[in-house]
Amino acid sequence: MLLAHLSDFHLFADASETSLVRPDVVEACRKVVADVAALSPAIDICLLTGDLTDGGSDADYALLKDVIAPIKAPIFVVPGNHDRRETMRAAFSDTIPFEPGPDLNYEVRHSGVRILALDTLEEGKIAGRLSLGQLEWLAGKLTAPTDELTLIIMHHPAFPSGIVPLDRMALIEGREQFGDIVAAYQGPLRIHSGHIHRPFQTMWKGVFCAVGGSPAFQHELTLDPSAQEPGIVSEPYAYFLHKIDGADTVSVHARYVSL
Ligand SMILES: [Fe+2]
Repeated sequence: MLLAHLSDFHLFADASETSLVRPDVVEACRKVVADVAALSPAIDICLLTGDLTDGGSDADYALLKDVIAPIKAPIFVVPGNHDRRETMRAAFSDTIPFEPGPDLNYEVRHSGVRILALDTLEEGKIAGRLSLGQLEWLAGKLTAPTDELTLIIMHHPAFPSGIVPLDRMALIEGREQFGDIVAAYQGPLRIHSGHIHRPFQTMWKGVFCAVGGSPAFQHELTLDPSAQEPGIVSEPYAYFLHKIDGADTVSVHARYVSL
């Protein structure tokens, strides 16, 4: 089974909300999508882990859907801090079984894996949160362990990148409780996130975690704990292609795309 993990497209139809977004972001994202769509063998699943749009308008989501249309595999999304729940729900309710209620959480099974999607958006804030209700929902889904591989997808990473100023604006509220739920689960589990604008992988609570990079702009690798502001760099863009063979084997490849 092949899975492509993309993130943080920050697409905008009219004006960008984030000054850092490259002006030709639509063209850049179309190149990334074209690369994914041309893969052989074809991917089975595509994950898009938040900040799909930069402002969350209806026009932004219409543009996003046009950009991702060449990918024929199912695309599973979560909102980031630049998305808007109502417009995103409307844009994807034809393909994604969102739970009722304001948050865009859902559970779905495809190609032998279970995906648990968590909405970490806190409106008006950059950092993310998980409410008590969401944590209870997740805990209810991670009770009896099975051999089935579960992928949690959520925009804000609960795990540290080591880039201190970015970790301060990642998942804040509910992070500790989320970590306890993840650590207690006995079945095969992985976590896919975005938000950091720099691709990396890590182990946290015994769980393999990956962050997808962004074609919109990239943060500098700054591991100095006293760093205050994340710098912006121009580096080659790559997304992660996960080759999953059963619940306990995954090969992760960086697929470079010239933007
Ligand atoms: Fe982002």
